[in-house]
Amino acid sequence: MPLSIGIESLSLYTPRFSLPLHSLAEARGIDPNKYIIGLGQEEMSVMPPDEDIVSMAANAASKIITPEVKDSIKLIMFATESGVDQSKAAGLWVHHLLDLPKKCRIIELKQACYSATCALTLARSYLSLHPDERVLVIASDNARYGLNTPGEPTQGCAAAAFLVSHTPRLLEIEPEQGYHSEHIMDFWRPNYLSEAIVDGKYSTRAYLSTLASSWDDYAMKSKRGFHDHSRFCYHVPFSKMAEKAHERLVKINSEQNPSDTLDISKSPSHSLTYSKKIGNGYTASLYISLASLLENDPHDLSLQRLGLFSYGSGCVGEFFSGIVPKEYTLLKDKNRLAHEDLISSRKALSCSEYEQLFSHSTPTNGSEYMTPVLTEQGFRFKGVKNHERLYEHV
Ligand code: COA
Repeated sequence: MPLSIGIESLSLYTPRFSLPLHSLAEARGIDPNKYIIGLGQEEMSVMPPDEDIVSMAANAASKIITPEVKDSIKLIMFATESGVDQSKAAGLWVHHLLDLPKKCRIIELKQACYSATCALTLARSYLSLHPDERVLVIASDNARYGLNTPGEPTQGCAAAAFLVSHTPRLLEIEPEQGYHSEHIMDFWRPNYLSEAIVDGKYSTRAYLSTLASSWDDYAMKSKRGFHDHSRFCYHVPFSKMAEKAHERLVKINSEQNPSDTLDISKSPSHSLTYSKKIGNGYTASLYISLASLLENDPHDLSLQRLGLFSYGSGCVGEFFSGIVPKEYTLLKDKNRLAHEDLISSRKALSCSEYEQLFSHSTPTNGSEYMTPVLTEQGFRFKGVKNHERLYEHV
């Protein structure tokens, strides 16, 4: 019997500013229902100039690094597609800010929104050789498409930090994974741009075909079908995408099993509660969805199997599964209250305030620069001096 490995604790962070999408719709002369019903999004988090992937990551991880677990963290994997340095792993700043043990390895991983899932897989392999250790996985991203673009209402920013260990209290990961990789240009961000280039319609089609292919591979390897899963979590670039993904899985299942009836309790609604208000968190978004499901689904999910789909444009997709341990109920309310507070305490911006923050430019030639203080508590990005990024705790 293989030892169980999985997610022991999971914490989310998003900056303290948001934009209600009805305000964006009004400013852009668009029917708000396009965003709220058509894309399934109500609000999006907005990144102030004194936050970045490092401050968000440190703010998320600080909530799960207790004195009991600190010394056992021997590997940190930082997943992002909003990297702040071409050479240094962003996790080194987090390691420093959280005063983690020096006997630790740190790397950064990149493949669009997929890389945190790869980190989870690598963490499982690593922990099978090092059963007494823990791995800290951090997914942190700022989703930027640009003002007045079709992608604008699907922006957002967030970090998810989770500990992977032999004491999974939130999700025990099962060994079978189905995956699919293919060189396509649906979404990418050249080094000289701060916003992504995206063929949005093509990327939604690529997401769905990658889901179908990853699911087939997973179903073949695990010999499981749709009904062997109690709930599903999907990568959420916008909520409607996850609903379309679920419809695709249901369709695949009904084509293979025409007599099956659709169980609507399996729809991804509770997994979307947080994403509808945070927006896209790129690498973090599947794990925002997982936290949302575990904390908001009113049913007891103990010992239930979840199916999870991760998609990173370009593209790599992976379908995998996990069993929810009974202990998850001990963390459910505490985590939900913390995440609800994080989301509801954000300051709602007007569209012009959002545009100001979005357009705030930082020098790209390394000249000294101090950020305005907008983040009132936790870790913040202080500025750049001697080409070095500086952070502080307020
Ligand atoms: N009321 C209700 N729904 C409305 C509406 C209204 N007044 N107006 C439009 N809609 C619906 C559309 O029917 C469509 O739904 P459907 O896809 O189920 O048919 C949805 O709103 C979006 O409208 P659409 O015209 O397709 O939007 P768009 O061309 O402006 O762009 C994206 C949508 C997702 C392509 C764009 O936001 C984008 O590029 N996002 C970034 C890329 C991304 O997230 N990719 C996902 C894969 S990783």
